[in-house]
Amino acid sequence: MASAGHLAIDGLTAGYGPVTALHEVSVPARAGRITAVLGANGAGKTTLLRAVSGLVRPRAGTVSLDGTDLTGAGAERIARAGISHVPEGRGVITELTVAENLRLGAMLGARRGAGQSLERIYTLFPPLAQRRGKEAHTLSGGERQMLVIGRALLTRPAVLLLDEPSLGLAPRVVAQIFGLLRDLVESEALTVLLVEQNARGALSVADLGVVLNLGRVVAVDDARALAGDAALRHAYLGF
Ligand SMILES: Nc1ncnc2c1ncn2[C@@H]1O[C@H](COP(=O)(O)OP(=O)(O)OP(=O)(O)O)[C@@H](O)[C@H]1O
Ligand SMILES: [Mg+2]
Repeated sequence: MASAGHLAIDGLTAGYGPVTALHEVSVPARAGRITAVLGANGAGKTTLLRAVSGLVRPRAGTVSLDGTDLTGAGAERIARAGISHVPEGRGVITELTVAENLRLGAMLGARRGAGQSLERIYTLFPPLAQRRGKEAHTLSGGERQMLVIGRALLTRPAVLLLDEPSLGLAPRVVAQIFGLLRDLVESEALTVLLVEQNARGALSVADLGVVLNLGRVVAVDDARALAGDAALRHAYLGF
């Protein structure tokens, strides 16, 4: 059964050995919405995604999906519950074709009992359709980002965690990726946590935003309100 995608992150504390990278972080990732997670280098954005997806074990706080407690569960169980993490770096198997990379995602989706056709992904991302037979190393950065998002979608997630999808892409391509994300949440029941250093771009596509600084939440608000707060922008968002 597809879940509604209500992700609740409450008071999450996590870190690495002696380093505490997140201090009691709560994020209102509303179902069917895009929540931007913003902040400078080292703010704890990636750690937050890792703690949600089970790659880093929280020291305190809770993570739940549609009321099911997932705190401290393993990454595999969390993925099966419907949370798909797209890490920074656009990792694809470069020797395999676009279609083969997607089929790997579809296999995981089938394991969850909710596989779906590659055709849907080609409809969502037309550049991938044109390049379905091409090896992944021939793709541009933007196309590769579409491929990793498409692969994640084939697992039929209720929640998509995206770490810096815009990194290193030209502004026009970033706008295209963000536009596709917007279309996705409009057309499917999908909840997105969008980690970005590109705060301006992320807030233009997000519904809500959370600003982290040194592992603590310093602001939570509607994306538009955050983008309109000149002092906050200046202090934490760099635009
Ligand atoms: N594997 C690790 N071992 C030890 N410390 C780590 C590790 N990964 C991250 N940290 C530390 O945790 C803090 C938060 O890092 P994190 O990667 O979550 O930040 P970030 O907001 O994603 O930064 P960036 O924008 O550079 O990706 C930093 O102080 C970082 O040095
Ligand atoms: Mg990071």
